[in-house]
Amino acid sequence: MTTEMSPPAFGVVRKAVFPVAGLGTRFLPATKTVPKEMLPVIDRPLIQYAVDEAIAAGCDTLVFVTNRYKHAIADYFDKAYELEHRLEASGKDELLEIVRGVLPSHVRAVFVTQAEALGLGHAVLCAKPVVGNEPFAVLLPDDLIWNRGDGALKQMCDVASSSNASVIAVQDVPAEQTGSYGIVATESFENRRGRITAMVEKPRPADAPSTLAVVGRYVLSPRVFDLLESTRPGAGGEIQLTDAIARLAAEDSVLAYRFQGTRFDCGSHIGLVEATIRYALDHEKISEATREAMQRALDELGVREV
Ligand code: UTP
Repeated sequence: MTTEMSPPAFGVVRKAVFPVAGLGTRFLPATKTVPKEMLPVIDRPLIQYAVDEAIAAGCDTLVFVTNRYKHAIADYFDKAYELEHRLEASGKDELLEIVRGVLPSHVRAVFVTQAEALGLGHAVLCAKPVVGNEPFAVLLPDDLIWNRGDGALKQMCDVASSSNASVIAVQDVPAEQTGSYGIVATESFENRRGRITAMVEKPRPADAPSTLAVVGRYVLSPRVFDLLESTRPGAGGEIQLTDAIARLAAEDSVLAYRFQGTRFDCGSHIGLVEATIRYALDHEKISEATREAMQRALDELGVREV
């Protein structure tokens, strides 16, 4: 039932939240000074891939939830006057376009601080004053999603709009890996989607309701903010986004959506390596050289076939 206080429907998702205030301990010592989100795949930092995906989905307000050590992210999205001037003066127009394209002029970036790393749910809650009472997206930049068609978030916004529901990205994982993910239970699963009936954070394989794992893309009703405000610390003493979404699913329609694309967990060493290989093999300029380099490495290490 619609009341005056109901949040707007999911027609347009304009605001995208990037929780980037985690410690990134798995990439120490690099993350002593370089935020995890600034690690590059080829020539672009992880955060740029996520930002491009959000803009391609129609978002024009990007909310970065950072901490006091992550000024490199704000610096990256700031205008680089001196660099632009030098590129312009030396006629390097292609590079100038690349630098200016980091953030298109119709998009604004807003930075909010999470003073203490109290968990992903808490980080999302920090964005509430900027997001307000409208549906919004959440993207975790260390989940990099590669595909050739519409980006994962665009696919999800379309589903949210047509079904007027919150949408959570999921992918199938091997049964033995359920303990590393939030796992969803759904009603019948058709046409890549199913209504969520339960969510469990990092269940043992024997306790997992399915093998559908939550991936770092969400389109959420602002109602989730109220639920986060009353969510107690869960697994690991952190305020878990999963717990608040599980409560949202109990009172409202929340869909799990199996997106088209390949997701790389760039918060792990092997995920970042695999993403780099994929983007390099798919790159118009360095694809061939990458194949040769991989073959050379395998040969020199005594492995015969790729
Ligand atoms: P992770 O679980 O990957 O944690 O957080 P992390 O600190 O980034 O990395 P590791 O595990 O220590 O290597 C998932 C996402 O939630 C954000 C992180 O920045 C990341 O995008 N996050 C997590 C916050 O913004 N604040 C928090 O308090 C916790």
